[in-house]
Amino acid sequence: MKLSTQNLLGIRNLNPEDIQLILSTAQQFKDVLQRPVKKVPSLRDVTIVNLFYENSTRTRMSFELAEKRLSADTLNFAVSNSSTSKGETLLDTVNNILSMKVDMVVMRHSASGAPHFLAKHIPAAIINAGDGINEHPTQALLDAFSILEKKKKLKGLKVAIIGDILHSRVALSNIYLLTKMGAEVMVAGPPTLIPKYIKEALGVHVTYHVSEALAWCDVANVLRIQLERQNQPLFSSLREYNLVYGIKKDMVDKLKKEIIIMHPGPINRGVEIDSDVADGPHSIILNQVENGVAIRMAVLYLLANREN
Ligand code: CP
Repeated sequence: MKLSTQNLLGIRNLNPEDIQLILSTAQQFKDVLQRPVKKVPSLRDVTIVNLFYENSTRTRMSFELAEKRLSADTLNFAVSNSSTSKGETLLDTVNNILSMKVDMVVMRHSASGAPHFLAKHIPAAIINAGDGINEHPTQALLDAFSILEKKKKLKGLKVAIIGDILHSRVALSNIYLLTKMGAEVMVAGPPTLIPKYIKEALGVHVTYHVSEALAWCDVANVLRIQLERQNQPLFSSLREYNLVYGIKKDMVDKLKKEIIIMHPGPINRGVEIDSDVADGPHSIILNQVENGVAIRMAVLYLLANREN
């Protein structure tokens, strides 16, 4: 089976069959990753550049590891030590890299739409590793994979996404994926951090009360406040945010249900989530990180093999 797309720019343009194919392929790679020898020859002679114009820990390392596990050749580009500071454009940079016979580009960029722009101008497959406040498709895929491991289904599941929805590419990709796969989504947080017409535009429930979201959901995906994307104050202080919207142990304990708590990272402990919840029995945060490698192996493999 093949994906219906040559690039992974977002979840928005995937169909449910694409999502299912990526998730089932990732399960095969997860099985491989449990073996003593974790490396397969699938992408031997494929060269991939990881082009990170914005900081990353999990996504960058996860892609790099996925590429190594698939036996691809990898190049790593970090904007801080590149010639971008000398005035080179994104397109010139990528065309120069591609002239060295690179087959695929994994890109993170602070500008929403940067990977879509690249995809219009270059022949290599592009994978969006997070673009501004737009999408983070592999995060949503690894989140779905992690939910499936614990809950065995997406259809009919209730997922609350809690926090800074307005500036979150993780929220948007998760909403697209979960609603396409038949889950119900509720977004929760301060009114200033939830887009005004999200209910009508994306078909999600909205609440400004975190306790309501927790009581409703099977899965809570907690998001960081993205101060780097806010150019004006949208809430009074981080301390007050934690008091009103932070997820605390007593809130989770009193639910008396098998809720799972997720977070894409990086966590701001004591702001959107307290340590005893992030590290507690309901948390699957490190499972998400582990599953990211299998998901990225699946995406790279499926995009590289689309002609087979
Ligand atoms: N979840 C995520 O995208 O984390 P990084 O910014 O560390 O890659």
